[in-house]
Amino acid sequence: MFYSEDIVEEVRSRNDIVDVIQSYVSLKKKGNTYTACCPFHNEKTPSFHVSREKQLYHCFGCGAAGTVYTFLQQYENFTFPEAIEFLANRAGIALPQKEMTLQERRDADYSSALKEINKAAASYFYYALRQEDGKAAWSYLTDRGLSEETIHRFGLGYAKIYSDDLYKYLKQKGYDDRLLVDSGLIRFDEKQGATDVFWNRVMFPIMDQNGKVIGFGGRVMGDGHPKYVNSKETKIYEKRRHLYGFHLAKRSRREGIILCEGYMDVIAMYQAGFDNAAASLGTAFTIQQAMLLKRYTDHVYLAYDSDGAGVAAAQKAIPLLREVGISARVINMQPHKDPDEFIKTLGAEAFEERIRQAESSMMFQVRIASEQYDQQDPEERTKFQQEVVKLVSVIQDPLERDNYLEAIANRYFIDKKNLTESVNRYGAYRTEQNRYQELLERETPQDVRRQERREERKQQPQRLLLGWLVAYPDQLFPQMKGRIGPEDFTDAFYRELAQRLFEQYEATGSLNPAAIIQQYEDLEAETKAAAALQSDLPMEPSPEDRATVITEVVRKVKEESLQYQLAHLQDISKLQDIIRQKGQIPTWNISLTCG
Ligand code: CTP
Ligand code: MN
Repeated sequence: MFYSEDIVEEVRSRNDIVDVIQSYVSLKKKGNTYTACCPFHNEKTPSFHVSREKQLYHCFGCGAAGTVYTFLQQYENFTFPEAIEFLANRAGIALPQKEMTLQERRDADYSSALKEINKAAASYFYYALRQEDGKAAWSYLTDRGLSEETIHRFGLGYAKIYSDDLYKYLKQKGYDDRLLVDSGLIRFDEKQGATDVFWNRVMFPIMDQNGKVIGFGGRVMGDGHPKYVNSKETKIYEKRRHLYGFHLAKRSRREGIILCEGYMDVIAMYQAGFDNAAASLGTAFTIQQAMLLKRYTDHVYLAYDSDGAGVAAAQKAIPLLREVGISARVINMQPHKDPDEFIKTLGAEAFEERIRQAESSMMFQVRIASEQYDQQDPEERTKFQQEVVKLVSVIQDPLERDNYLEAIANRYFIDKKNLTESVNRYGAYRTEQNRYQELLERETPQDVRRQERREERKQQPQRLLLGWLVAYPDQLFPQMKGRIGPEDFTDAFYRELAQRLFEQYEATGSLNPAAIIQQYEDLEAETKAAAALQSDLPMEPSPEDRATVITEVVRKVKEESLQYQLAHLQDISKLQDIIRQKGQIPTWNISLTCG
């Protein structure tokens, strides 16, 4: 952070979060909080809450949370400096004008430096597209049917024919060579020195889900080779974790997400009104991408290419989507190759119709299997049916399974009773095999999630206690004395957060949660902290019950803490004391009077 904490706090306190958010989202007052449908994900019932008292917001649906700064960073895609400038301006505060020195820049966080470089490059390419040099690139894009508005929306640009003009531009902004090489935009070699990675290509900036540029795809104009050059993986650009266009798609009001293969497909769909499209980044779809999608939707439409490679890719994506609980449907693009081509020839309405007709992933898988076997040949037909048994047995829900068995039996003229029996037999065999598989594969997605859930269950009391301390500081802090301190939070993240809360309360006799949260430097940590400080039970307990619940929570936190100390005990003489403390927990009662 390049502004002093005082300034950051001053600007924040002069911009009421309710007023700021109100100017983007229409908020309804409900008791002490304001609610709305969340601007960060698609929903029909409002789960987005803004608290004037705490100066924080939180969405119970997608988990977005934070201060007025984080809101602008997420909503407007501002960087932190941009957000503070915007708010200072809004409140009529003059910010100290301060250029970063090179040393400061070197010290600045490595990731944000990489993001800065990518952002600078994106705007360099963006302007190049609009200059004389960029004329051919501009025509290439408009000839492919893109409007000026679309080109602007996706931040498309042009890398000029010179071998080092971007390098010179970034150099003049003061970045050092090592960082530029790390960014993936510049290459070094003994003979030629520094050269740009992208030359004479149309540039597609790739953004993370907050709209920050993290890499590029560069397309040759016409039929040259290779068709695309892409940024290498960097600290901020891990291909398996991102989806092209997702920062826009996640905000769409349309139902579900359309998953496709190419940059151009996302863009063509967006222009035709299908603004819920995203693409995996020239690599196979991953479980991390599936998990990212699941945070926003339960439905995915697959709009992969209709050729063999596209069908194969769809077949690989379906189990991953199913794994995270997303139901997938497959859009039939025939006779066209991809969404871009389809829309260009048949138009948006025809595409909408194809979305409506999309085939469930199960029927798609069965159909593809049926095409691989000669249905007239008894041996082949048996193999096909065995394939069907395998496919259907992944469906857990008996009703759903029966419905599919019915549909498949009818369509492919198979005896339903036989099919059902085979599926049941195979199911029993598979559970055996699964157990074995789980031993073989150390970290399946289920394992990761089970582990996460276990962790979450352990952390929940700690998170709730933090939320309650913020809600009733004057009543609860005195009652923590001699019972719970920051060191009792076994989770490192919550321990640090507790430390900050306890210190602030000690020092000032009150709490300012928003000020604590803005001390976190990365957006993810800020979000997690903000969510914790607003955590409450899903159901509002009555005032009497509140005391019982908080007592329970405090006891759990202490128990977990003592358990942890026991497990990590070095000094045996402490054992006695831990056991004594354990014995006292059941006598604790926390009182709470509240309206
Ligand atoms: N891709 C790549 N390198 C290539 C070809 C493709 O990285 N040589 C990736 C790109 O992310 C591309 C996606 O795979 O967007 C899908 O490929 P393709 O369908 O060939 O590209 P489109 O984006 O549809 O490009 P166009 O319509 O311009 O041919
Ligand atoms: Mn294409």
